[in-house]
Amino acid sequence: MVGMRSLVILATIFSMTLALSGMVYDNGIETSDYVHPEVCGGCHEEIYAQWNGSMHSMAHKDPVYEKLFVIASRETNSSFDAFCTKCHAPIDYLSGKIPSADNYNVSEISEKGVSCDFCHTVNATSGIGNGAFISSPGRIKRGPLNDSNYSTFHSTVYSDLYTKSDFCGICHNVVHPFNGLVLENTYTEWKEGPYNETTSCQDCHMTPGVTRFVPNPGRAAVGGPIRENIFTHYFVGGNAMLPGLLGSPEHEKLAQERLKSAATLEIEAIEVVNDNVTLRLKVTNTGAGHKLPTGLTEARLIWLDVEVRDASGKAIFRSGGVDENGYIDHDAVKYHTVFGDASGKHTEKVWFAQKILSDNRIPPKGYSIEYYNFTIPKTAKRPVILSARLNYVSASQELSDLLFGKGKVRPPVVEMTSANYTLYAPSAKETPDFSFVMAIFTFYITVRFYKSRR
Ligand code: HEC
Ligand code: HEC
Ligand code: HEC
Ligand code: HEC
Ligand code: HEC
Repeated sequence: MVGMRSLVILATIFSMTLALSGMVYDNGIETSDYVHPEVCGGCHEEIYAQWNGSMHSMAHKDPVYEKLFVIASRETNSSFDAFCTKCHAPIDYLSGKIPSADNYNVSEISEKGVSCDFCHTVNATSGIGNGAFISSPGRIKRGPLNDSNYSTFHSTVYSDLYTKSDFCGICHNVVHPFNGLVLENTYTEWKEGPYNETTSCQDCHMTPGVTRFVPNPGRAAVGGPIRENIFTHYFVGGNAMLPGLLGSPEHEKLAQERLKSAATLEIEAIEVVNDNVTLRLKVTNTGAGHKLPTGLTEARLIWLDVEVRDASGKAIFRSGGVDENGYIDHDAVKYHTVFGDASGKHTEKVWFAQKILSDNRIPPKGYSIEYYNFTIPKTAKRPVILSARLNYVSASQELSDLLFGKGKVRPPVVEMTSANYTLYAPSAKETPDFSFVMAIFTFYITVRFYKSRR
């Protein structure tokens, strides 16, 4: 509880600084300065339908967020209330109506989370991360079109900020407000990765393309012209759980599709010596513009489930299985971030996090190699079947238990990709010859190539 007291002191300093800079309590902005998304939806029908049900539309009413917020608020004497609110219910933050553990729904518009009128009245940023937006609500709506004067409801101003990842970076980088520990780093992962020259967040998250930009011709609004491309507003990531829980099957399906396009899993080599098998797996981040997984990575979890059975179905080896209560095998290969508190113990409570104990996530276009060893028993029926699955879950069972009570909610598992292999080796010392397979493959490609040239 020593950590607790210093948190409270730091929090007091933090809120005094905020009050002095006029950021929380007295900036003259009211919730009523912002227009409800339904009103925007009157003319922007398609965009509204895409946004409604997105994680942005749920950023405040999301029960996972609400539960964690309430615990954070209680355990830190409200010192994180304004901080969390800044990104999850920015209009509440701007108008100084900060939710607390005992009074969570402070305004009607905060139900709408990160909504149209919040995003389209950001006129500048004060940097990257921790909600560095500068908002100027009013008649002017800002956006990516430099020739848009068709609206009778509002005037429009072109702003190239909207076309850049920096706009998303306002919130998609989170740093602990009191000790500076990096908690979420999606923007920086993108910025330091191979996509920053070619592909923005918008190019993957505001297009039908999933892992690249694909034009989406149409109208941005009733009364607007037909354009070659309109950016979509589904803002789908890996979260298939919440849209599922809160009744948006379309977003749920899109999130599953996205997860299934994010990575590849290859059986790189299998070596068999005296029935001792070494298996080499390669997981490559082929589709995500940032690490895999990204975002709230003490919750998000990607792991390998490797299973070996004999021809009669008898289990020979398993790593990464899930037990009947939803807990993943301790020895599984897991890709995620583990935070430690002041005493160096693992914590899922980011407000207590002081260091990163481990982080083995896969960088964009990067890969990770994993080895497995097992022995095929003499009694095993041949052939032996190997199957490996790359799975994703939005929150571990442990975190779900903490938030909702033990076993109350079972976060759904999405299989991202899989690989299978049948090991025919009838006896010891037979090694599947990959160079032979490669030779056949090369031959095939060469034949195709010459055929297509003719
Ligand atoms: C009365 C109908 C109507 C309403 C209501 C309406 N808009 Fe528009 N809006 C339009 C039309 C028409 C366009 C022009 C589309 C085009 O140029 O292709 C437009 C364009 C825009 C643009 C593009 C601006 C640019 O320069 O890139 C944004 C952003 C926008 N609206 C946001 C909003 C928001 C936010 C709301 C709710 C607060 C809203 N609109 C409400 C009709 C409306
Ligand atoms: C998280 C912030 C965010 C939210 C919420 C949001 N938008 Fe946008 N919107 C953007 C960005 C960013 C772009 C520009 C993408 C680009 O050009 O790369 C955009 C583009 C637009 C455009 C121009 C479309 C085009 O491509 O020509 C309109 C119109 C618009 N938004 C209306 C809305 C409406 C209506 C809502 C609510 C239903 C909404 N937006 C919610 C960020 C947001
Ligand atoms: C005002 C802060 C803010 C801005 C600006 C913002 N986001 Fe978000 N975004 C959030 C929050 C908060 C969530 C999580 C909501 C939740 O899960 O409760 C989120 C969720 C998402 C998700 C879903 C993640 C998942 O797990 O499925 C995607 C994708 C996303 N944002 C993309 C973008 C893109 C692209 C931009 C820029 C065009 C952007 N965001 C701008 C705050 C913001
Ligand atoms: C090359 C395409 C691509 C680019 C560029 C890209 N993303 Fe993603 N993003 C994906 C894919 C695919 C996923 C699903 C896999 C995953 O969850 O990590 C994803 C997932 C996410 C998630 C959900 C993470 C999770 O695991 O719950 C968020 C949040 C997100 N992206 C935000 C962003 C932001 C912000 C940017 C820009 C800084 C960005 N993305 C750039 C493809 C991209
Ligand atoms: C700087 C902006 C920012 C701040 C501050 C912030 N968050 Fe978030 N939060 C995000 C973004 C962006 C995401 C989406 C990342 C992803 O999907 O993995 C997110 C996702 C989440 C989620 C995942 C929701 C789900 O349904 O899986 C929870 C829970 C959450 N935040 C809790 C909190 C709490 C509690 C605080 C305060 C201690 C907080 N956040 C502060 C930006 C922020």
